[in-house]
Amino acid sequence: MDIEKQTKTKNSMDGVSRREFVKYMLGGSALSIYTLSKLNAAVYQSITSLNQKYIQDESPDGVYWDALSKHFLFQDGLIMMNNGTVGPMPKPVLNTLIKYFKIQVTNPFDVYNYFPRRRDEARTKLAKFINASPDEVVITRNTTEGMNFVANGLDLKEGDEVLLSSMEHPGGIHPWKLKEKRYGIKIVEVPLNLPSKSVEEIVTAFKAAITPRTKVISISHTVYISGLIAPIKELSKLAHENGIFILADSAHGLGMLNLNVKEIGIDFLASSPYKWLGAPTGCGLLYIKKEVQDKLWPTIASWGWDNYQDAKKFETLGQRADPLIFALGEAISFQNVIGKERIERRIKALAGYLKRELSRIPEVKLHTPQDPYLSGGLTAFSIKGIKPLRLVNYLREKYNIVIRTIGRLEDKTYGVRVSTHIFVTFKHIDMLLEGVKHLLRHRT
Ligand SMILES: Cc1ncc(COP(=O)(O)O)c(C=O)c1O
Repeated sequence: MDIEKQTKTKNSMDGVSRREFVKYMLGGSALSIYTLSKLNAAVYQSITSLNQKYIQDESPDGVYWDALSKHFLFQDGLIMMNNGTVGPMPKPVLNTLIKYFKIQVTNPFDVYNYFPRRRDEARTKLAKFINASPDEVVITRNTTEGMNFVANGLDLKEGDEVLLSSMEHPGGIHPWKLKEKRYGIKIVEVPLNLPSKSVEEIVTAFKAAITPRTKVISISHTVYISGLIAPIKELSKLAHENGIFILADSAHGLGMLNLNVKEIGIDFLASSPYKWLGAPTGCGLLYIKKEVQDKLWPTIASWGWDNYQDAKKFETLGQRADPLIFALGEAISFQNVIGKERIERRIKALAGYLKRELSRIPEVKLHTPQDPYLSGGLTAFSIKGIKPLRLVNYLREKYNIVIRTIGRLEDKTYGVRVSTHIFVTFKHIDMLLEGVKHLLRHRT
C-alpha cells in the first residue's frame, strides 16, 4: 500500500503568513495586466544580473541561491522538501496565471478567440526545453493522462507483453492493468534492487525479461519510491534493438533534470511540470516521437483527431484552461533564465551532500543510488528503529521542514523521501540531519 498520509501538519496558513498571502493576492488582483508583465520582467532582470555576477560560481550556498529563493512565496519559515508531491510556483508564474484569468473574466471573448492561438507559444517553448519539435509535444493534464494515452492508444493483442519495473507509480501501472483486463495483454514485472547498483544491473534485468511477445517497456524515468533515475538512454537502445516501444514516466523529470528527449532516444515520455518545473497543477507534458505517431490512436477525439498530421491529433481535448498553459510557458522562462544545467547541478549537489551525510549514519539505509547518473533530486531512505512517520512529524514540528513518507508499508521500500530543489540550502539539510540524529539518540 502506498502511504500518502502525511504528518499532523501545523495549520499551513496560520497567523502572519495567512495575512501575507492574502495581501499578495489582493495586491495581485488590484494590479493591471501591464503591471503584472512588468513585475515578471523585473524578476528576470534581477536573475540575469545575478548570473553575470556569479558566472563562475558552481553552486554557492550564499547570495545566488538565497536571492533566487526570494522569488518563491513560501509562508514564513516553511522549508519545502517535498517537491516530489507538489512543488511551488515562483512569482512570475503566479503573475501570469492571474493575468490571463483576469483577461478571461474581463473579456471572455479572448478565451476562444485569442487564447488558443497563443497555446502554440507554450508548446514551442516546451519543445525547445526538452529538445523536441513542437510537432511532438502534447499538452496534457498530467503524467497519469499521458501514460493512459499511450497504453490505451497502442494496438496490442491478447498475449502481447508489456515490461514494467517493480517500482512503478499507480499512474504508470493501472493504464496497463486496464488494458490487461480488457484485451488480455500480459504485464511482466521486472525486479529492481533497492538501491539499484549500476546501469548494467538494470539493463540486464530488462534484457532477461524480453521475449518474442514483448511489445512495450513502460518504466519510470524518475522512480517515486526510491529516487532512482533509470538509465533511459540505455533502455531505449535495448528496446529499439528488439523492435519494442519504450515509454518513460518522467513525472519528476521536467524541471529537475536537463531533459533531452533526443539524447535519451525515448519513444514516449510523460511528465508533471507542477512538481519540479514550477508550473501550476493542471497541465502536463506528453512527448511522442514523430516516427511513432502513426502507431498511436488518440484516446479523446474531437475535431482534428483525423486531420492533424502531428501530435496535435492527441490534443483535441475540448476547451482548455489556457491560463494554466501560459503559466507553464512562464515556468519554462523562469528556469531558462537561471539555466537548466545550473539547476540540475545544484539539485544534484544538494542531494549528493544529503546522501553522503546519511551514509555516515550506520542506522540509515539509503534507497537511492549515490551515483549522480542514477539519481537526481529525490532521496529516499529508512532508519533502523525509527518509524518514517515519526521522522516526518518531528521535522515538521521542530524545524518546519516538509518531507513525506513513501513506499509500501509491507516491504523494504517503506521510508521517507526528501526533495532538494533550488530553494533548499545546505543549512536546511544540516537541520534535517540533526533531526535524524536527535531521534536516533532518543529511540524508544
Ligand atoms: C513517478 C510518478 N509517476 C506518476 C505520478 C502521477 O502524477 P500525476 O498525478 O501528476 O499524474 C507520480 C506522482 O507523484 C509519480 O511520482
